[in-house]
Amino acid sequence: MPSEPKAWHGKAPGRVNLIGEHVDYLGGVVLPAAVDRYTEVWGAAAREWSVDSDVDGGMAYVRAVGEELGADPQAVRISSQVPPSAGISSSAALLVAVASGLRPDMNGKDAALACQRAEQKATGVNVGVMDQFASSLGRRGHALLLDCATLDYELIPFPDELAIAVVDSGEHRSLAATPYNQRRREAEAGEPRRRRHVDGEIARVHAFVEALRAKDFTGMGELLKQSHRSLRDDFEVSTPNVDALVERACSIDGCYGARIMGAGFGGSVLALVEHHEATAFASRMKRPVLICSTADGAFVGR
Ligand code: GLA
Repeated sequence: MPSEPKAWHGKAPGRVNLIGEHVDYLGGVVLPAAVDRYTEVWGAAAREWSVDSDVDGGMAYVRAVGEELGADPQAVRISSQVPPSAGISSSAALLVAVASGLRPDMNGKDAALACQRAEQKATGVNVGVMDQFASSLGRRGHALLLDCATLDYELIPFPDELAIAVVDSGEHRSLAATPYNQRRREAEAGEPRRRRHVDGEIARVHAFVEALRAKDFTGMGELLKQSHRSLRDDFEVSTPNVDALVERACSIDGCYGARIMGAGFGGSVLALVEHHEATAFASRMKRPVLICSTADGAFVGR
């Protein structure tokens, strides 16, 4: 076991998921992207684990990933631009930032898997690998088409003309307090409506990638709307408030489509918007909106 460096620094981005929701833990394909909001961490070996952060709840994550990587106790300071519980995966950004600081030479896939195990341990939620993978290996200018069964992935160019808007629903929840594990069990057991969502969503990911390659923004937007309906009616992870936000987003000029993003049960809405309409879109939503660009993951170029 190599000895810990005296002091270290790590940095990792949040993520969006363009399409492919609630399919990662079933070995489906997903299309996330790392985005330009980062969590940074500074650490040094210490007698016991400690965390200094503006945001609550970091300790369980930091310790879990440290232990997963076989690190000795560390004192860690966290600074984050990734809003917690807003759906761009502040937890994955924190876990991957710590992993990249403690083990900068690690392979990005192994780091993502270690961070997934750490999140499962820290929260008791049986999350898939999508968020940690995107934060580790996403690439600026691209979305990442990930096969969660094999962890093979392909980078798909993401056009400059499109802005990625993330709308905060204001319904914040910790995953542990949601029926995430229950939905996963139902889907794994083949419950017909849950399964219909999963099969349809995987087909939509492939169709979306074709539309993205063809720069068919209207087609991409239609697929987002279909994904939302399926998550709302068949997977039952939306809320009336989020449904209303999706409708509002879709009615605004320059918005091609929108849907609930991430685990759901509140959280955030993803909308794809023409770049030059992004500011007007944000003000018309009357909710906090992050306009994001794609970014490099923490383990890119190492
Ligand atoms: C959360 C989990 C992911 C994935 C999504 C739903 O973000 O961390 O693994 O399951 O929900 O697609």
